[in-house]
Amino acid sequence: MKKILITGGAGFIGSHVVRRFVTKYSNYKIYNLDMLTYAGNLENIKDIENFENYNFIKGDIVDADFINSIFQEYQFDGVIHLAAESHVDRSITDPLAFVKTNVIGTMNLLNASKMIWKDDYSNKRFYHISTDEVYGTLGETGLFTEKTAYDPNSPYSASKASSDHFVRAYGETYGLPYVITNCSNNYGPNHFPEKLIPLFINNIINNKPLPVYGDGKYTRDWLFVKDHAVAIDLVFHEGKNHETYNIGGFNEWQNIDLVKLLCKKMDVKLGRQQGDSEKLITYVKDRPGHDLRYAIDATKINKELGWKPSVTFEEGLEQTIDWYLSNEEWLRNVTSGEYQKYYEKQYS
Ligand SMILES: NC(=O)c1ccc[n+]([C@@H]2O[C@H](COP(=O)([O-])OP(=O)(O)OC[C@H]3O[C@@H](n4cnc5c(N)ncnc54)[C@H](O)[C@@H]3O)[C@@H](O)[C@H]2O)c1
Repeated sequence: MKKILITGGAGFIGSHVVRRFVTKYSNYKIYNLDMLTYAGNLENIKDIENFENYNFIKGDIVDADFINSIFQEYQFDGVIHLAAESHVDRSITDPLAFVKTNVIGTMNLLNASKMIWKDDYSNKRFYHISTDEVYGTLGETGLFTEKTAYDPNSPYSASKASSDHFVRAYGETYGLPYVITNCSNNYGPNHFPEKLIPLFINNIINNKPLPVYGDGKYTRDWLFVKDHAVAIDLVFHEGKNHETYNIGGFNEWQNIDLVKLLCKKMDVKLGRQQGDSEKLITYVKDRPGHDLRYAIDATKINKELGWKPSVTFEEGLEQTIDWYLSNEEWLRNVTSGEYQKYYEKQYS
């Protein structure tokens, strides 16, 4: 039985990955390691917590002794590393927290993998999940390919870029078998409502202002989270060692157009007059260092591994909105307490 460590499995993307692996691979023992920060929530994976091949470990990837001890104890065959500080706005107010978790945490996992695999890398794999934000910003045209030079602009993207470089360096220097994927913006169920789509769904439900940064012309490529989980499964099993794959939705939206689409759909779902939610749009002071446009060329993963998104943006957005409307208790729980303080500081 293969033992796979998934880090950050109580977070947004990690919970979808953990569910996919636990339910699909009964021959794997899945260890979900998560510190349960504000972004981690065991409710996200409640439906699989009693599966025999599932184990939860609460702990901090920054704590090297703890990481070494669990690697010694469980002798993992593979690592799928998603745990991170993931919100750009928070990285602007507390960059060091991002260095600790995203850089030092990744280093600890690399060192522990190297220690237990002892240079015998047959059937072993370290899979590092990264972001398209490491490539910096695009102008109005062009796409990020796997060959685009790294050019991160925010403390978040700089910390992710740094961790990507260390993973690659461990591959080159010590032969560690790794794969890296750089993915565009995800959306879907269980997304913490500090990120654009769930934040705006929550605010529309509660008739609160919709804070759009700058002129709203920032462009992002959006991918449904379950399609990302499928890509991660594929790359983990069929990706080539020492390779990077870009993952994207072929689905670019300017923020303001996306917000207007969301408003239209929410008006229908909530039985409001068309145009009601749009009145909540409020332009707020821009985020410093805000990247204008991200767009991914996902040709390589498509050609080499046969992956492409399975749902259209319309379908994915419908599923997402429906999920939030039928999980209002989840939304209430995660937006109580500390979230309120953060929200007031960020948008007041
Ligand atoms: N969300 C996106 O659009 C997106 C896009 C591309 C790549 N990514 C990457 O995917 C990964 C997951 O992103 P997400 O959006 O699910 O993030 P998230 O913030 O929802 O979840 C992160 C998880 O990591 C855990 N965690 C944080 N610090 C930890 C620590 N020190 N030790 C152990 N666990 C810790 C949190 O408790 C949480 O469960 C990240 O590496 C992120 O950079 C995200």
